[in-house]
Amino acid sequence: MKISVIGGGYVGLVTASCFAYLGHIVQIIEIDSKKADLINQGIPPIYEEKLEEILKQTAGKNLSAQSHYEGLGDADIIFICVGTPPQDDGSADLKYIISASKSIGAALKGSKKYHVITVKSTVPPGTTESIVMPIVLELLGNGSNCVGFCMNPEFLREGRAIDDFLHPDRVVIGGSSEEAVRVVQEAYEKLDAPVITTSLKAAEMIKYTSNAFLATKISFSNEIGNICKKIGINVYEVMKGVGLDHRINPYFLNAGLGFGGSCFPKDVMALIRLAEKNGEDPVLLRSVIDINERQPGRIVQILNERIGDIRGKNITVLGLAFKDNTDDVRDSRSIPVISELLEHGAVISAYDPMAFESMKKIFPGINYHTNAGDALIGADACLVLTEWPEFSKLNDEFNLMKSRVIIEGRKILSCSGIEGVCW
Ligand code: UDX
Repeated sequence: MKISVIGGGYVGLVTASCFAYLGHIVQIIEIDSKKADLINQGIPPIYEEKLEEILKQTAGKNLSAQSHYEGLGDADIIFICVGTPPQDDGSADLKYIISASKSIGAALKGSKKYHVITVKSTVPPGTTESIVMPIVLELLGNGSNCVGFCMNPEFLREGRAIDDFLHPDRVVIGGSSEEAVRVVQEAYEKLDAPVITTSLKAAEMIKYTSNAFLATKISFSNEIGNICKKIGINVYEVMKGVGLDHRINPYFLNAGLGFGGSCFPKDVMALIRLAEKNGEDPVLLRSVIDINERQPGRIVQILNERIGDIRGKNITVLGLAFKDNTDDVRDSRSIPVISELLEHGAVISAYDPMAFESMKKIFPGINYHTNAGDALIGADACLVLTEWPEFSKLNDEFNLMKSRVIIEGRKILSCSGIEGVCW
């Protein structure tokens, strides 16, 4: 099939590369021409496991990138993969969805071919139907027969996005017609996954609901963890026993500093705003965010209880990324922790295997190191904030500290003499 993908960010690039890997002819339309050039050379503009390998196999062959809309009229499916960043009040900003819809409508004018315009970006329920469809149809002006509309949410985890795309738990396709759904379903034909077909609005809601439920599991585990910590129980022992109940399952029950990243905080907030706009009071979702915002402060409080006044103390922070295997620090729980440490006058040394460059832009004044050992020399305390697998091997490095006070915000260390934020 011929597939065009609007937007070459995390979602667009992974989607385009994987469709090319599956044998389709794929065109990425990315306004940043530097990014498009890199993609054409087979160089990933972002870090994502296995992406380079796939780009090398497809770029210049059945995958190409450009910064204009020429050739869009050849596409069977046009995926909209642009950002929907939060506005000041937390609701989703749809300006890029609107501009992509206008460009698609203008580029398809006069086309005789049948195209399915498919929204992959996370958008509030009703967006495809009430915003994308009317904009495109008005610009096309040639009736609705040559276009269909679908909403096909992504469930890609950063760092594992390629595997998630190629081995999904399910493919959700909401459509304006059976024909439109059939075309999008065909694009996924080679994948071994159940396909759920729904209305456009339900597909949009499935994405928000999935992320809100996963975020709820994490905040729930953190609340149980906070209670466990007070009464001397290891919450990981508890959740192992709880997660084996098949009605619950063992995933996303890892207590710690809470969730960060580009999706969970933004999507839960957008769902809260959507509920409020519709006259609902989303009590549970607000608590999910509330617990998440309080968790980072708890590790600083424990540190305070262990070493007293933080002012002037050397604190080592291991892990800056919002999770392991990524250089992304968006909404990382390490940001509020470092801010609070700095407010209290701590001197911070930090190490992260990948994310130090991104964090330097937020905290240029702290001392960054290229390995954990160097960051630990002379430290009064160490906080572990990301579950990087390499941290599990740390042991002798902690002997370089002035005093061995080690507190984990993520459960990853295997040496003795440590405690966790809620275990
Ligand atoms: C998430 C969703 O998983 C994905 O389906 C969606 O499309 C985008 O958002 P991502 O943000 O890449 O993916 O990261 P994920 O692996 O889900 O983790 C999110 C955050 O939750 C991280 O900060 C992680 O450390 C934290 N987390 C995860 C926990 O604190 N405990 C857990 O048990 C699991």
